[in-house]
Amino acid sequence: MALAQPTPLFTRETIETRVAELARRISSDYAGTGELLLVGVLKGAFIFLADLARRLEVPHRVDFVALSSYGAAGSTQGNLRLIMDLKTPVSGQHVLLVDDIVDNGSTLRFLHGLLAAHGPASVKSCVLVRKAKPRVAEVAPDYVGFEIPDVWVVGYGLDYGDRYRTLPYIAVFEPGQSA
Ligand code: IMP
Ligand code: MG
Repeated sequence: MALAQPTPLFTRETIETRVAELARRISSDYAGTGELLLVGVLKGAFIFLADLARRLEVPHRVDFVALSSYGAAGSTQGNLRLIMDLKTPVSGQHVLLVDDIVDNGSTLRFLHGLLAAHGPASVKSCVLVRKAKPRVAEVAPDYVGFEIPDVWVVGYGLDYGDRYRTLPYIAVFEPGQSA
């Protein structure tokens, strides 16, 4: 069955330009610091991380973590649990967490805490999208692609009930659009 096509909020071109800008800033900030460890948060970050990493001009490795939040589709409430850990030891590494979106901030706070406990040289974070809303747990991301209002977005890795991730643009998901 065909999925309804949401209206773009950020086009493919706009995203590409912004990802390139983020990559330039990150490359300049980490120039000369050695190898960077990019830690992507599955599944949402896989497309953003792939595009960002290929534009970085500093040496880097890529690893992933996966979390489960017991949440229903469209919700980020619930307890976070690590369901896939890093393969790469974090000790002494400059770590850059890469996620698709900051909603209430619990994911970033959870992962910052987890990584910081393993003795990295530094931990920073980069998110493509940040929602403008009060956050229960503020760990301010160091790099932000786009600020949006408190709406549910899909595409470019972002899902609704695990669908729409591979749309090449970011769109607002309207309730009533069904999968
Ligand atoms: P937080 O812990 O509330 O900041 O939520 C972050 C996680 O919730 C992200 O990594 C996404 O997986 C998911 N999320 C939050 N808002 C959205 C959205 O608008 N679209 C898709 N996923 C979202
Ligand atoms: Mg996510």
